[in-house]
Amino acid sequence: MRTLIRHVLASTTPCEGVTVQGWVRTRRDAKGFSFVEINDGSCLACLQVVVDASVPGAGQLHDFTTGASVSVQGDLVASPAAGQRWELRAQRVELVGKADASFPLQKKGHTLEFLRTIAHLRPRSNLFGAVFRTRSRLAHAVHQFFQERDFIHVHTPIITASDCEGAGEMFRVTTLKGNVDGDPATDFFGRRTYLTVSGQLEAETFACALSNVYTFGPTFRAENSNTARHAAEFWMIEPEMAFCDLAGDMDLAEAFVQAMARHTLEHCAEDLTLFERFVDKEVRKRLAFVVERPFQRVPYAEAVAILQRSGKAFEFPVEPGANLQSEHERYLTEEHFKSPVTVFNYPRTIKPFYMRLNDDGATVTAMDVLVPGIGEVIGGSQREERLEQLLDNMKFQKLDPKDYWWYLDLRRYGTVPHAGFGLGFERLLMFLTGVGNIRDVIPFARTPGSAEF
Ligand code: 4AD
Ligand code: MG
Repeated sequence: MRTLIRHVLASTTPCEGVTVQGWVRTRRDAKGFSFVEINDGSCLACLQVVVDASVPGAGQLHDFTTGASVSVQGDLVASPAAGQRWELRAQRVELVGKADASFPLQKKGHTLEFLRTIAHLRPRSNLFGAVFRTRSRLAHAVHQFFQERDFIHVHTPIITASDCEGAGEMFRVTTLKGNVDGDPATDFFGRRTYLTVSGQLEAETFACALSNVYTFGPTFRAENSNTARHAAEFWMIEPEMAFCDLAGDMDLAEAFVQAMARHTLEHCAEDLTLFERFVDKEVRKRLAFVVERPFQRVPYAEAVAILQRSGKAFEFPVEPGANLQSEHERYLTEEHFKSPVTVFNYPRTIKPFYMRLNDDGATVTAMDVLVPGIGEVIGGSQREERLEQLLDNMKFQKLDPKDYWWYLDLRRYGTVPHAGFGLGFERLLMFLTGVGNIRDVIPFARTPGSAEF
């Protein structure tokens, strides 16, 4: 039976009759035998296999080239070589699939840009193997975090008729041929539909029934921002809590980011070592820092004052009442506070209709969690639970209440204070791994002008 290399390498005793299967990374020939490094993606490390020229299958060794798939059976013995505990003494080897010299991952040191052009093969590289193992472990950690706290997982729809964020950055979904702006009643769903930008509105309906819920799924934004932190398709985790205010929301958001950092330190240690060596020397230190220290909290008005006092020449000037730019967010976390920061109480004018209006009439209970190196990873708020005020907000944002009748019903029948947030999973992964471009933490990136694979 096949054993994953990760388990083989974790063995505490020598072992006979082990079968491993994977892809050849390198082969070195000596007189009468060869060393073959095999990786199966289950862990960062390769298993060294020593193949005597006399074992069955060794006649094909010349085809054990970089990228070829092979199957090996042998005995696990203590390795005399430095830097590795075990090696496999092959008793039989078998070529499963050839890879000729055109296999593009021949040598180390390809650029990330080049590797993006071979997104179908890059998971076989050390870096991307590490990134996507970490992504998988973190996805598990997300569910664990919420399930342990009695949050109920809700699958919200991917096709929707409402623009949750009101930013008009939706991808249309239509089966209309020719004139797609024709009569919506003749379209597939009998109305205009889009790919969702957020599962929040639907999550709210479930929170107002099941108390604490969360969603974890793909979301889509047709924003034409070609930056290292924006993707057209990204995954978002959106918890929503009934009987919860802004303070409770910030508590959960900060605890969540800390728990993900702790999980990475504890469960992705081998891959983290690679990130530390080749991607970001500070990554482990930064995670330890985040786990240990409380986040800073600062109202938007104070954040703006700090930025104005900073004397920094920003590309985008700091304007009270305007959105913080990513350079402003990074100044706050990296230079001023030198820690993650939660900014709250933003101006009403720059935030969506669903956020709760503060008593000052000018700000809403919005909060963004900003982290060093990235800026915003979380955006959330306490929701407007008062029907009249919500209607007023919709008027303010020029939305038609008729389109949101079901959302308004939540305020008509047993309304409760409630709050939630959205965490961009890829932004979190960038923070936890140090990887600087969102295209490199998602298996197949969708960005403006690019949807290959
Ligand atoms: O701040 P946003 O727009 O908030 C919402 O969508 C709310 N409905 C969430 C809620 O309250 N339930 O987006 C939330 C997060 C951002 O903080 C960011 O991490 C990520 O989603 N995000 C993106 N990530 C990658 N590419 C993009 N284009 C993103 N836009 C937002
Ligand atoms: Mg936001």
